Amino acid sequence: MTNRIQIPALQSKVMSAEAAAALIPAGATIGMSGFTGSGYPKAVPGALAKRIEEALAAGNPFKVNVFTGASTAPELDGALAKVNGVNLRMPYQSDPDTRKRINSGDMNYIDMHLSHMAQFTSYGFLGEMKVAMVEVAAILEDGSLVATTSVGNNQAWLDNADMIILEVNSWQSMDMIGMHDIPASIPNPPNRQPLPLTSAGQRIGSKFMNCDLSKVVAIVETDACDRNSAFAAPDEASKAIAQHILDFFAAEVKAGRLPPNLLPLQSGVGNIANAVLQGLNDGPFENLASYTEVLQDGMLAMLKSGKLAFASATAFSLSPDGMKEFLDNIEFYRERIVLRPQDISNNPELIRRLGTLSMNGIIEADLYGNINSTHVMGSAIMNGIGGSGDFARNAFLTIFMTPSTAKGGAISSIVPMVSHVDHTEHDVMVVVTEQGLADLRGLSPRQRAEVIIEKCAHPDFKPALRDYYERALEKANGKHTPHILSEALSWHTRFLETGSMKA
Ligand code: COA
Repeated sequence: MTNRIQIPALQSKVMSAEAAAALIPAGATIGMSGFTGSGYPKAVPGALAKRIEEALAAGNPFKVNVFTGASTAPELDGALAKVNGVNLRMPYQSDPDTRKRINSGDMNYIDMHLSHMAQFTSYGFLGEMKVAMVEVAAILEDGSLVATTSVGNNQAWLDNADMIILEVNSWQSMDMIGMHDIPASIPNPPNRQPLPLTSAGQRIGSKFMNCDLSKVVAIVETDACDRNSAFAAPDEASKAIAQHILDFFAAEVKAGRLPPNLLPLQSGVGNIANAVLQGLNDGPFENLASYTEVLQDGMLAMLKSGKLAFASATAFSLSPDGMKEFLDNIEFYRERIVLRPQDISNNPELIRRLGTLSMNGIIEADLYGNINSTHVMGSAIMNGIGGSGDFARNAFLTIFMTPSTAKGGAISSIVPMVSHVDHTEHDVMVVVTEQGLADLRGLSPRQRAEVIIEKCAHPDFKPALRDYYERALEKANGKHTPHILSEALSWHTRFLETGSMKA
């Protein structure tokens, strides 16, 4: 294990997870590594949860604030949520226990654009960051830190925190050295300069993270794998959505609005995204690139087949099989993948310059193209906005996708008015369900409503949507975006009362 900690003087900082957790001040804001189940600290969060539980039993309860890159895993979010140990969580989560705590009102959650997190911290908008807790693969002789399967906000946490706890995880491959591209943290205005990145594959930083070693108070050795969850094979709805998107891309190429090798792809994780990637892998487009947040199995397959020439991301989110494929062929992938900090992977300046094709999953869309990505029936959080907002406003093409119904057909994903707004009509170009694809570019609100009902709504809900829209056209106080306000959210209230949106 010592070859992973190559500075002899740091051996004195090596301690147990419990001893490291004991150093964290009660109430501290902790910047933890971790992004979509990779590269998160595996041992100290659990030890901290135990300490919080014991403190509660002893009548000295305390909580901490947890900032990460994005979602983590049961060992981090789950462990701390179970003991009700988190006061404030930012910027994204997808953990069932955390979700319960947020929705029961036990935990505060600020659902923030992922690209904003590092700058909000360095601007001082979020108060003092007491602790950075970052997983690394190794600490090299010259003090460089070898990053692991996610980069996220790690460098920002190391720069901003008063004290640093490093988890050195020997499960993480040292062969990843060379895959990371970590520029110095972006300075605050007025000292910002243009980011010199003009293609998805370009490198603009160092292979390593770095920190002021005098701030390191603890080093904990681990040997634990990431949360690599298996993916379900794409279902019929996902395959249909994927096909609509592929046909749309083909038509855009034919019309001369997209080059034959498209533009850099950005896609969220999950069933639909995987189906799109699978479709692209089987489809006619060659020499593709991706400039995205998360690299999932579908992208490895595309790199392997040669369809995808290069992939830029901030983290992996691989199945166990995907991780094995990656580790077995790491030299091949290292040439074709770069992992960047999330304020670079999700940077609006770069997204607009590169012109991404952005495809993200949603909860619901309304007649006019407003999008709800995060809330169920207006009040309960599902996961969070993630990077979808970073991409939506700045992408070359912004595509939102969802099956047309949810909960066995009881819910229509196309509703008169969304019960929560994450992406306004101004940032939405395409909405696609398994029923069809609504191209909203250049359409006024009334024209959008016609196309969304026609192309995207499920046949079970189409007549009711049309009826609502036609009555709104007659009754509304204005004909620009016609609504019947007393009825606009009645589909949601009906679901809450009866378990179905159907009348
Ligand atoms: N109303 C109520 N619930 C709905 C719903 C709707 N209109 N649409 C979906 N859901 C529920 C599903 O029933 C499911 O619930 P369950 O876990 O209890 O079964 C859950 O939401 C997830 O839906 P699923 O169909 O499995 O889709 P998914 O895994 O593709 O997730 C989102 C969809 C919207 C939750 C997900 O894409 C997301 O979190 N998006 C926002 C963040 C984002 O865009 N990230 C990428 C940016 S880079």
